[in-house]
Amino acid sequence: MVEPLLGRLNHLFHASQFPFPFHARLPSPFINSEPPSHARKITNTDQDFSLILLRKTSPIALFTRILPNQILIKRMFFELTEEQLAVQQAARDFAQNVLKPGVIERDREMKFPKSEVRQMGEMGFMGMMVDPEYGGGGMDTLSYVLAMEEISKVDASSSVIMSVNNSLVCWGLQQYGSEEQKAKYLPKLATGEWIGSFCLSEPEAGSDATSQRTTAVDMGDHYLLNGTKNWITNGGTSSVHLVMAQTHPEKGHKGINCLIVETDWPGVVIGAKEDKLGIRASDTHTIMYTDVKVPKENRIGEDGFGFKFAMKTLEGGRIGIAAQALGIAGGAYELSLAYSKERAAFGKPISQHQAIAFKLADMATDIEAAKLLVYRAAWLKDQYMDYGTASAMAKLFASETAMKHTVEAVQIHGGYGYVKEYHVERLMRDAKITQIYEGTSEVQRIVISRNVLNGQLYIPIWNGKVVGMEV
Ligand code: CAA
Repeated sequence: MVEPLLGRLNHLFHASQFPFPFHARLPSPFINSEPPSHARKITNTDQDFSLILLRKTSPIALFTRILPNQILIKRMFFELTEEQLAVQQAARDFAQNVLKPGVIERDREMKFPKSEVRQMGEMGFMGMMVDPEYGGGGMDTLSYVLAMEEISKVDASSSVIMSVNNSLVCWGLQQYGSEEQKAKYLPKLATGEWIGSFCLSEPEAGSDATSQRTTAVDMGDHYLLNGTKNWITNGGTSSVHLVMAQTHPEKGHKGINCLIVETDWPGVVIGAKEDKLGIRASDTHTIMYTDVKVPKENRIGEDGFGFKFAMKTLEGGRIGIAAQALGIAGGAYELSLAYSKERAAFGKPISQHQAIAFKLADMATDIEAAKLLVYRAAWLKDQYMDYGTASAMAKLFASETAMKHTVEAVQIHGGYGYVKEYHVERLMRDAKITQIYEGTSEVQRIVISRNVLNGQLYIPIWNGKVVGMEV
C-alpha cells in the first residue's frame, strides 16, 4: 500500500515544486510503525491511512491522512471550537472582574497576587494541559494560549506565574517525568495548590545555557546539589523547583541533569526579591542551593538528559510567552482604540486624525500577524508536529510587536499614557521582559536561523492540499 501512496505524494510534491523527492525523505523503517509515545491522538478510519514520518534527529511525527484520489492533510481552519471559545471567555471575564481591580496597586507595591493565583488554580488555569488523571484540564495548547492572551491583556504579572507553572513545570513533568514523579507532583501543581519554578539561568549562564555551574554530584542513592540560580520566576512562592545542574562536567551539556527539588528541603535558600521594571507583582528571586540532598528518583529522564529536557520544555514555554506578548499588545491596542474614540482634539475624536488612525492600523495588522504565528505554533504542537522553529518565530514576532505597540499606545494616550491610571505605561514596562525571558529575541534568531540553514524548517505548501515537513 505504501508504494502507490509514495508515488502519489511524489507527484504532488513535484507538482508543487517541492525540491526533494518524497521517498528520499521517508525513512522506510518508520513507515507504518507505531507513533512515538507522546503522539496519542491518531485516528484511523476505514478510509484513512496514517503515514508517520520521523525526522532524522528527533521523533517528530507528521500524520497524513490519505483518501482515494485526494490528499487530505490537516486543513486550515480559523474558527475556534466551542470549548476554546468558552475558555477564552472565562479567562476574559476573570481578567476583567478579578485581576483588573487590584492590578495597579499590585504593580506599584510588588505584591504577589496570592488570592488571585489561588482562584486561577480553582478555575483550572494553572494546569490547563495536564492530563485529567493528574488533576489537570486536559486541554490543548491553543486553549492555553487563548487563556494566556486574555489574562495578559490585563495582568502580565499573573500570566507569567501561570505560564511558568503550565508550560515549563507541569508540561515538562508530564512529558518527561516518571509515573511516580507525575503522581507525586502533578496533582498539586496542576490545581495551583503548589506553584513551580524552572531553574536554568545562572549568574554566568543566561543565553549561554549550556555553561551550567550548579553541580549535582552523584552520591549513589542521591545527588548533592550546590550552586546559584537567578531570575527565578515564582522563586519566593514556589514549592517545587526543576533545577538544571551539571553532573559530568567532562561531558559538557550531555552531563547536565534536571532534578526535582522541594523548596523546604535543607540547604535551599531563597534570596532577595528583584525590584523589576515590569511584571512587578510576579515574584523573581535568586536561589542558592548548598549541599541539598536530592533523591535519585527525583532526576527527570536518563542520566545526562537535563539540557535536552530544558530545550524541549522551553520550546513549548516560548509559545506561552508569545501568547503573553500577544495579550500585552492586544490589551494596549484595545485601550488605545477606545481612548482614541473618546478623546477629542482639534474638534474631533483623535481616531479621526490620520496620525492616530494609521497607528491603530499598524497595531491591528501586527497583532493579527502575531496571532497567526502564535496560534499556528500552538496548533503544530497539538498536532505532534515539529514546533521549535514556529515557537521561536512566534515569540520573536509577538514580543517585538508588544514592545513596539505598547510604546505607540502610550503615545496615543499622550500625557494620560504616562500615568498609571490608564494602564498602558504598565503594559509598556511589562512588554520589555517578553523580549528577554525564555530566550532573548537574539536567542530566538539563533534558533530560527540554525533551523532555516539546516533545512529543518516546517514547510507549508500553500496549494490547499499539502502541508509537509522536511525529514
Ligand atoms: N530540542 C532538543 N535538543 C536541543 C534543542 C531543542 N530545541 N536545542 C538544542 N538542543 C540540543 C542540541 O541538539 C545539542 O545536543 P547534541 O550535541 O546532542 O546535538 C545541545 O542541545 C546543545 O545545543 P547547541 O549546540 O545548539 O547549544 P548552544 O550552546 O549553541 O546554545 C541556545 C543553544 C539555543 C542558545 C540555548 O542555549 C538557549 O536556548 N539559550 C537560551 C536559554 C533560555 O531560553 N533561558 C530561559 C530561562 S527560563 C525562563 O526564562 C523562565 C522564566 O522564569 C520566565
